[in-house]
Amino acid sequence: MPADTAATVRTWRSFSGEVEVQFEESFGGFSITGFVVWEAAHQLSNFLCSHKLLVEGQRVLELGAGCGLVSAVSASLGAEVTATDRADIVPRLRCTAQLGKPAQRFEVAQLDWHADPPWPAGHFDLILGSDITYGSHCHDDLLPLLWRLMVGSKTSALLTHGVRSPEQTALLWHQILKDWPGTCWLLHDYEVLERCHVQHKHDSDLPDKCITFVLGATRPAGGTLLGAAYETFLMVSQERPLVCPQPEPELLGEGILGPALLA
Ligand SMILES: C[S@@+](CC[C@H](N)C(=O)[O-])C[C@H]1O[C@@H](n2cnc3c(N)ncnc32)[C@H](O)[C@@H]1O
Repeated sequence: MPADTAATVRTWRSFSGEVEVQFEESFGGFSITGFVVWEAAHQLSNFLCSHKLLVEGQRVLELGAGCGLVSAVSASLGAEVTATDRADIVPRLRCTAQLGKPAQRFEVAQLDWHADPPWPAGHFDLILGSDITYGSHCHDDLLPLLWRLMVGSKTSALLTHGVRSPEQTALLWHQILKDWPGTCWLLHDYEVLERCHVQHKHDSDLPDKCITFVLGATRPAGGTLLGAAYETFLMVSQERPLVCPQPEPELLGEGILGPALLA
């Protein structure tokens, strides 16, 4: 971390006010990717607070944890959490891991997505990620890593995706669906995903929105929150199917989706 970086400790409260955690973040003239908390992290944190059973008593792994907000919230909700990120972000994560009440404390480990994970498939009950599906790395490294951590197990991954370019979100969604047929579903927000498909050129609100989707190596059990979401998703996506947009030629040049995604 650059020496002149002004780090600030902030307090985060859930909408209900029941959960309060502290985290460190900083703004500066350097790449801010993992040094600030992104909107997707706020949304995923609030989602977990309203669905505490998803994490309570569970072994949780966070990928690309950045400042560690989601990990701190999950720990406060009773999860045993390991937060991971690249080497340069790990010191930031360690700071957050030591802040707040003892209940928000969590383990920290370095994990680059292209490296082999030190845990076997199924070691974690739940994998979390906020705003980590924004680039071509998603297909090169992230999704294969998730597969290694989940294959043959009941582990699920909950990923909150921040919409930057609606068209890219729509294309990413179709590509993920192709790779994870039957085991990828939207938890929320289907309406936002629909808008990314049909109104993307004129919808200036969309870049502030997020969607949360689930990946699993096996289908979720009925009667669980994830199982109910799966059934609802199947129904809604049959009633209101999403047609993959044709990518604009300029998107191909940005290197964000990459040729592999569009193949
Ligand atoms: C947009 S930030 C999101 C940070 C945090 N999850 C949030 O929502 O506030 C993306 C995060 O993914 C991490 N990341 C990107 N590529 C990675 C890779 N190859 N291996 C591990 N982490 C990576 C970055 O270091 C960064 O912390």
